[in-house]
Amino acid sequence: MRDILQQLEEKRRQARLGGGAARIEGQHKKGKLSARERLELLFDPHSFEEWDMFVEHRCTDFDMAAQSTPGDGVVTGHGTINGRRAFAFSQDFTVFGGSLSESHAEKICKIMDMALQVGAPVIGLNDSGGARIQEGVASLAGYAQVFQRNVLASGVVPQISVIMGPCAGGAVYSPAMTDFIFMVKDSSYMFVTGPDVVKTVTQEVVTHEELGGAVTHTTKSSVADLAFENDVEALDQVRRFFDFLPLSNRESQTVRETFDRPDRIEPALDTLVPPQANKPYDMHELIGKVVDEGDFFELQPNFAKNIVIGFGRLDGATVGIVANQPMVLAGCLDIDSARKAARFVRFCDCFNIPILTFVDVPGFLPGTAQEYGGIIKHGAKLLYAYAEATVPKVTVITRKAYGGAYDVMSSKHLRGDVNYAWPTAEIAVMGPQGAVEIIFRSDLGDKEKIAARVEEYREKFANPFVAARRGFIDEVIMPHSTRLRLCRAFAMLRSKRLENPWKKHDNIPL
Ligand code: HXC
Repeated sequence: MRDILQQLEEKRRQARLGGGAARIEGQHKKGKLSARERLELLFDPHSFEEWDMFVEHRCTDFDMAAQSTPGDGVVTGHGTINGRRAFAFSQDFTVFGGSLSESHAEKICKIMDMALQVGAPVIGLNDSGGARIQEGVASLAGYAQVFQRNVLASGVVPQISVIMGPCAGGAVYSPAMTDFIFMVKDSSYMFVTGPDVVKTVTQEVVTHEELGGAVTHTTKSSVADLAFENDVEALDQVRRFFDFLPLSNRESQTVRETFDRPDRIEPALDTLVPPQANKPYDMHELIGKVVDEGDFFELQPNFAKNIVIGFGRLDGATVGIVANQPMVLAGCLDIDSARKAARFVRFCDCFNIPILTFVDVPGFLPGTAQEYGGIIKHGAKLLYAYAEATVPKVTVITRKAYGGAYDVMSSKHLRGDVNYAWPTAEIAVMGPQGAVEIIFRSDLGDKEKIAARVEEYREKFANPFVAARRGFIDEVIMPHSTRLRLCRAFAMLRSKRLENPWKKHDNIPL
């Protein structure tokens, strides 16, 4: 008996070595951790339970039968993150470059299937040379099976991809179908075709990093949500991020104990909005002052900065926050910001996360670039996402809410549940100057007359009370009491029930 136990221990030890000590050393030299070291950092100590440690590939071509490693280049299993269950796979670059074989794919599919049944998120740590070249179509089939599961799991359990090495070719499409993508600077990249092919086809000379590195994907393409300095920081932040998420769409709300009083007053908010209408202020300040313990997990902070998205908590419960940012493009909505926010709103709605919207928006960004780029369709995505969302929706208009953008930003008319305005709010078809120049065009030559008209328009419409008189705003609130009002509103909405009409699925303007 003792011999058998020792043999098992020895087999495990061998399997844990993956591609061997020298290759693990190679990972370290590149500033990367090994697949197992990453899982140790991701999960609570000793909570990770590994599955399929002894699975091997079945390929016999190219002398592959002689080169088999237990586990076949991916470590899979489940564990807890701050006490809550999650499934994960971690590709092992030391075994055939982490490439995906038929067996490797089967291991990933097995944990995805189980995650779906028990209702727990799936976290993929990607570090792979792509399809196992020796296996040909069998490995392509494996990828497709993972893709299919990504789609079936979408909206059922949260899926997070962390790119910690190469991710190229069709392999990028599995992360692309997950909810969030995090990348590590300098050691990870994602592209459909690499620099060599790009050079051959388009004659462009570009490095791996420029083409598909973490900075590129978090500033230019918006494929990734966040870029981290190294593996340790990335995994640490995934743990923090995980705490905001529900385990599945069956969870009605995600709550964590807080010591921050829901009735905390913030006098500084009374002077946040400058008296001059065109002077910007930082929406982050408002968000930081309102959420529990100032803890805001921002996503895509370096892309479409004119809108801010991320998670915070109010009285312990997770809320998704969307806020126009007056510091950038005056907070206008454009193609990028509409796409960024729409996908976020839809994620929240899938997973029963209430949505808090802060509005200071002068309208949609004008210009040929926007119109030719399809702002009509892209802007509609955000409108559509808010309109279809059935989760609790609370809105605070801090300053401008002009034109179509007023409607879009979780207005009462799109089933906003509680719509507040600060006394500084201006809810109108457009700003006073623009409005007067259109409706009093014949007076344009007379500066004094126009100035008087602008003042008259400002008096009449540049305030929250016209909308409040119609009930489009439920209450004009003191800025300093915003947190208290929000905590109260979301507490009231906790038992909200709202369903859209039955349909197979909707047809969002993609
Ligand atoms: C089998 C692979 C492999 C692969 C790497 N290796 N990629 N083995 N299939 N796809 C092996 C290498 O032979 C090498 O083995 C070890 O992994 C480490 O690779 P290196 O090249 O030494 O590492 P590095 O210099 O860091 O380069 C990493 C790399 C490069 C950039 C990923 O290996 C590479 O370009 N690989 C091929 C990538 C690729 O074209 N994949 C197919 C893409 S198509 P030894 O024994 O020498 O150490 C695809 C389609 C998916 O994925 C479609 C889904 C629908």
